[in-house]
Amino acid sequence: MPIAYCCLDCRQPLEEKPGYYQCPKCRHQYRVFAGVPNFKPGEIYPGEERVLEDLEKQYDKMSFEEFLNYADSKKEKNSLPWELRRTMRFENKSGAEKQKWLENYSQEVIIKAGQEQIHVTNILLRYAKGQIRHETCLDIGCGRGPWAVMAAKIYQQIYALDMDMASVIIAKKYCADQGINNITFLAASSSALPFPDNAFDLINSQAVLEHVDIQLKSLEEIQRILAPGGYFVGDSVNRYNMVTPEPHIDLRLIGFMPKSLAHKLSLAIKKFPYDDIKPLSYGELTAMLRQTFGTKYKIIPFVESLQPSLTQSVLKVMPPCFLKHFNHTHYILGTK
Ligand SMILES: C[S@@+](CC[C@H](N)C(=O)[O-])C[C@H]1O[C@@H](n2cnc3c(N)ncnc32)[C@H](O)[C@@H]1O
Ligand SMILES: [Zn+2]
Repeated sequence: MPIAYCCLDCRQPLEEKPGYYQCPKCRHQYRVFAGVPNFKPGEIYPGEERVLEDLEKQYDKMSFEEFLNYADSKKEKNSLPWELRRTMRFENKSGAEKQKWLENYSQEVIIKAGQEQIHVTNILLRYAKGQIRHETCLDIGCGRGPWAVMAAKIYQQIYALDMDMASVIIAKKYCADQGINNITFLAASSSALPFPDNAFDLINSQAVLEHVDIQLKSLEEIQRILAPGGYFVGDSVNRYNMVTPEPHIDLRLIGFMPKSLAHKLSLAIKKFPYDDIKPLSYGELTAMLRQTFGTKYKIIPFVESLQPSLTQSVLKVMPPCFLKHFNHTHYILGTK
C-alpha cells in the first residue's frame, strides 16, 4: 500500500491533482517536477526553480548520460556547498577522466557506495531485538540514490527523499533507465517530513546528519514517522575523529579547532567551505538521541567496512571506549 503524503502545515492527507498535491484543509499546494513532488521549504539555492523547470523539460528527451551532463551544467555555482564540493572535484578531472567517470557512474556512484551502505544497514540491524520488518522503507538524504537502488533489490517498497531536488530527479531518471520501479522519489527536508506518524518499518540515513541544518528536529521527525517496532539506521561523522582525515575536506584533527577557525582553514587550504558541515561529538549525539528516542537507541562505535585497509585492521583491535570518542563515525540504531 502506498503511503499517503501529508500536509506539512496541518498533517491532512493530500489530494493528488495534475502537476501538484493539494491540502484539502489549508489549500497549500506542493508542485511536482518531473514526477517528483516538492515538499521542501523554498529554494535551496537562488534560481533552483528555474533549474528544475529546465530539468523537467529535458527529462523525457534525453538518455540518462545526456541528462546527467545537462543537470551538472545547470547547477548554480557557489550556492549549494555539498554540490560545489562535488562539482569542484569533478572540474579538476581531465576530459578523458570525466568520460571514464561517466562510463563508471553505475559502479562508482551507485553500486559500490550502495553495497557499502547496505552492509552497514545489515550490521546495525544485527543489534536489533525482535522481528525486523522491511515492507516500507525510507532513505533520508538519498542524494543520487545508492542506498535506495541497492535496497530496491531486497525490500518491497522504498521511498527516497533529499533536499536537493536535482539529485532526486537524476536518481529517478537512473532508476527509470535501469528498470527499477519500486522506489518513490520526493524532495523534502528531514526536519519537515510529509508523512503520517508510524509510517515506516525501516528508515535509513547515511552520510547525511552532519549536513542537516536542524539535527534535533530531524531526529524527532524520524522518530515520529517510524512504526512501533521499526528501526532507524544511520550514521554521524564524529567531530573528534582522530583516526582519518575529515571526510568532507580531507584535513586531519580539524574537529579539535573552534568551528570558525576550521572553516577559514578549509577555505584557505582546500578552497571548500566547512561552515555547512556540523559533525557531532559522542556527547552531543547521545544527548540528541536521548531527547528523541528516549532509551531506545544504540550508538555503535565501529562497523568494519567492506573495503579492507590498514586503518580498518588497526581500528578493529582498538578498545571500544577509544572508538566511541575518537573513531571517524558513530553508527546509530534507533527503534520505537
Ligand atoms: C553527503 S550527501 C549523501 C547522499 C547519499 N546518502 C549518499 O550516501 O550518497 C548528503 C545529502 O544530504 C542532503 N541533505 C542535506 N540536508 C538535508 C535535509 N535537511 N534533508 C534532506 N536531505 C538533506 C544533501 O542534499 C545531500 O544529498
Ligand atoms: Zn494543510
